[in-house]
Amino acid sequence: MPAAAGKHDAKGAESKPDALYHNYCSVCHGDRGDGRSRARNSLNPPPRDFTTAGELTREAMITIIAHGKPGTAMVGWKTQLNAAEIEGLTDYIRKTFMIVALDPKLQRGKTLYAQNCIACHGSQGQGSTLPIGGSKPARDLASPQARAELSRERMISSVTTGRPGTAMAGFGGRMPAADIDAVVDYVRAAIMVPQTDISGTNAHAGRAGSPAPKAAATASGADMKQPMPNALKGSVTAGERFYMANCATCHGAKGDGKGPRAYFINPKPRNFLDPAFTSSFNRPAIYAATSMGRQGSEMPAWSKVLNEQEIANVAEFVFQRFVVAGKRTAKAK
Ligand code: HEC
Ligand code: HEC
Ligand code: HEC
Repeated sequence: MPAAAGKHDAKGAESKPDALYHNYCSVCHGDRGDGRSRARNSLNPPPRDFTTAGELTREAMITIIAHGKPGTAMVGWKTQLNAAEIEGLTDYIRKTFMIVALDPKLQRGKTLYAQNCIACHGSQGQGSTLPIGGSKPARDLASPQARAELSRERMISSVTTGRPGTAMAGFGGRMPAADIDAVVDYVRAAIMVPQTDISGTNAHAGRAGSPAPKAAATASGADMKQPMPNALKGSVTAGERFYMANCATCHGAKGDGKGPRAYFINPKPRNFLDPAFTSSFNRPAIYAATSMGRQGSEMPAWSKVLNEQEIANVAEFVFQRFVVAGKRTAKAK
């Protein structure tokens, strides 16, 4: 546990709730408050998923944060945090992660989204990876572009009347206006928010528990024998499965950067067969790049959704299949 970021000598001084959450709580409850953290697999019961905790009262939360929950890994924080900090944290969690769970209209929107939109737009609003029929693929509603471009009014109008020439049909004939409002407000509250955006920024890199960014060695002529950081050993089999399901959509099954989504993306996904890549990306570099993502591009920071072992697996796969095997083919030519 990092010491002393909370309680201060000066009476009444408080730390910012979002910083407290990321210093003390996200390691178990996850960056998105959904309990999907690296600690999750080793705890029984697992850390609470706040996004479905609509029944938790503010008072009960304050009590548990101060005193802990017996029989679980949830310890009390009253020696580290003062009363104002505990209240601030509680309100932060409620408005950041529990907003949908606490609001019946947004709950209704969530159900409608699951019934009507998820098939094309995905559970996180990320959009479909493949074009649908002759249409362009469903829009990534979680992207910064979507946040910038889509006003509430435009969304209500697009959902009501559809988008001509695409698979996005109008719901006006099938859904009452109040339901369209509810589903749009749900998308705006749960999907189009920077906190749930796993692409881009490294805002939390370097906080306690994050993989060390320094491990990258990207200078050309990198030492290709270097092992994974933190003594991790990746499984190629597990990594391949994850790669085909989650990375191939951008980087291509062959690693050539020509996945089905690549066409829509700028800058383009990295071509792993390019000599610039195969000569400079060793295991620690691939691990770090996968973990931290790439600011200003569509490359997500996978540390927010994967644990260290899972990152090591997919990094090992990329290393073996594209860097090592890629070099061998290049030499044979
Ligand atoms: C070491 C892991 C860990 C850390 C760190 C942690 N928690 Fe927890 N938390 C848990 C576990 C495990 C539970 C119990 C889940 C259950 O009972 O189902 C829990 C439960 C809770 C609950 C009660 C949920 C319920 O349904 O009763 C709240 C509120 C909570 N945590 C807030 C926080 C806050 C705020 C922080 C940071 C100051 C924090 N936790 C840090 C693991 C952790
Ligand atoms: C059959 C697939 C499909 C379903 C189902 C679907 N969408 Fe879409 N959606 C699309 C496609 C394709 C686009 C991209 C259209 C474009 O770029 O003009 C899109 C675009 C959008 C946009 C952006 C429109 C704009 O103005 O640029 C919003 C908002 C949206 N969808 C919301 C929803 C909601 C909410 C639901 C459920 C009620 C839903 N979609 C159901 C395929 C679908
Ligand atoms: C939404 C598309 C997308 C997905 C999904 C994606 N990437 Fe990327 N990736 C990119 C883009 C775009 C870049 C190039 C960024 C640039 O050029 O600066 C990149 C770059 C990289 C790089 C090189 C980093 C660098 O510094 O140039 C690695 C390694 C990488 N990705 C690994 C992965 C792995 C492993 C996965 C799956 C776990 C994955 N990517 C999933 C889009 C994606």
